[in-house]
Amino acid sequence: MPANKRDTWASRLGIIMAVAGSAIGLGNFLRFPAKAASNGGGAFMIPYLVALLFLGLPLMWVEWTLGRYGGGFEHGTAPGIFHSLRRKNRFIKYFGIIGIFGPLVIFVYYTFIESWTLAYGFFSISGKLTSLADQQGMQQFLSGFQGAESNNYFSSVFPAYVFFICTFAINMWVLYHGIKGGIERICRIAVPVLFVCAIILMTRVLLLGAPNPQKPSWSIANGFGFLWNPDFNALKSGKVWIEAAGQIFFTLSVGIGVILTYASYLSKGDDVTLSGLSATSLNETAEVILGGSIIIPAAFVFFGPDNIRSIAASGTFNLGFVTMPLITNQLPFPKLFGFIWFLLLFLAGVTSSISLGQPAVAFIEDEFDIDRKKAVVIFGSVTFVLCHFPVFMLKHGVVDELDFWGGTFFLVVFAAIEVILFAWVFGIDNAWDEMHRGADLRVPKVYKFIIKYVTPLFLLVIISIWMWQEWLSVIVMKSVSAADKPYVLGTRIVLISILALLAMAVKIAWRRRDLKGKTDAA
Ligand code: ALA
Repeated sequence: MPANKRDTWASRLGIIMAVAGSAIGLGNFLRFPAKAASNGGGAFMIPYLVALLFLGLPLMWVEWTLGRYGGGFEHGTAPGIFHSLRRKNRFIKYFGIIGIFGPLVIFVYYTFIESWTLAYGFFSISGKLTSLADQQGMQQFLSGFQGAESNNYFSSVFPAYVFFICTFAINMWVLYHGIKGGIERICRIAVPVLFVCAIILMTRVLLLGAPNPQKPSWSIANGFGFLWNPDFNALKSGKVWIEAAGQIFFTLSVGIGVILTYASYLSKGDDVTLSGLSATSLNETAEVILGGSIIIPAAFVFFGPDNIRSIAASGTFNLGFVTMPLITNQLPFPKLFGFIWFLLLFLAGVTSSISLGQPAVAFIEDEFDIDRKKAVVIFGSVTFVLCHFPVFMLKHGVVDELDFWGGTFFLVVFAAIEVILFAWVFGIDNAWDEMHRGADLRVPKVYKFIIKYVTPLFLLVIISIWMWQEWLSVIVMKSVSAADKPYVLGTRIVLISILALLAMAVKIAWRRRDLKGKTDAA
């Protein structure tokens, strides 16, 4: 294989922005405030910080280190990276297929949701959203747009399909231009711009005061109080701890496989410890400070203490696409503020979705010696077909099903696999030395213990609790309606087929590699 064949990052700032861009997504501005508000408010920050320190941060360092290590052997995805940890083991690479499967599955539905933000940005500017005065109208508009029902606003999912095609094309365009020419270039612009959008919105929300003279208690200070006043009783519930751990995974993009791939484009002596910490800090600032200061406090001011609980519990989509447009409609310059909100979500979304696409592209490139442009065409063709499931079957629970397996279950399983391989198969002493090669920050020694014992144990406990409490009802589709069962079952068959095809692809890639090795040696 020719040397320097793989793409690289142009700068350290570039990869930090790319990892931060991958981490900062819809989860920061919608999922986090909703979770905090419905799981104990300020008290939620205790399990959240525990999960950050014992799961998120260690996994961030593990993924940066493993990725850079595998990149040294020209492997940018988990099968090859795991193989390079223990070459003699023929099976270890198969654990890695989850690191391609997870991001691919998330990519398939995430791009569709991202396309709604592009559409809603357009509907804001065009004045469509400002013409919708109440909750019911806004909700119907969203359902019509999603194709969940045919109504006065939309007779089919076709407009959403057009925006989806545009969003998909933007993602492919970025991936086609590679690591420095595409991903790095976009993230260096998009991440600062999204911070500016979020700061503008946060400042506007802070200046709200108590706009309704009849209801002086509906004030912004009480809005923050609603979100952050701690309810320590919530900490007695195991669910709150699991929710906090899930949020940390989702928001940091750890356990997915994308950071492994991004870090594989580093050089051997590049720092990973300070860079990993910097990307984490950027994400946490965007999440806790900016994400926590926009939608929930503003919704409190306009809808009051009686409605805020049901709003917070109404789910990510309703918060973003129903509640927030109703809020911006109440502000001066509603079109502008609506547009800024959806631009923020679009930029947060696109910098995350390109990172979800890159592992599969890197797998095709690295393991089949196919050049990047052809790899993107192959990836684009396959995912374009797969995306039709969420686009046309959203109302039958297909997105929830994809999100559960790709974005929740396998994420925790993959995190457990990678930390066990890192600390126990590669060996914690080796791993620690590898992590500190070229490091600009010495990680406190206590993390050696945490990575070896605490993180794997924490993950195994989470998986066991899930197995104990939920697996049977998930397997038999207990909460799925009879009408949706065929769709959910179909989705599962497609997912199992993808896993099987990936396993076959790994087998074929290694067989080619072995044959090539023999030919080269002859
Ligand atoms: N980390 C991304 C988010 O928070 C996936 O949306």
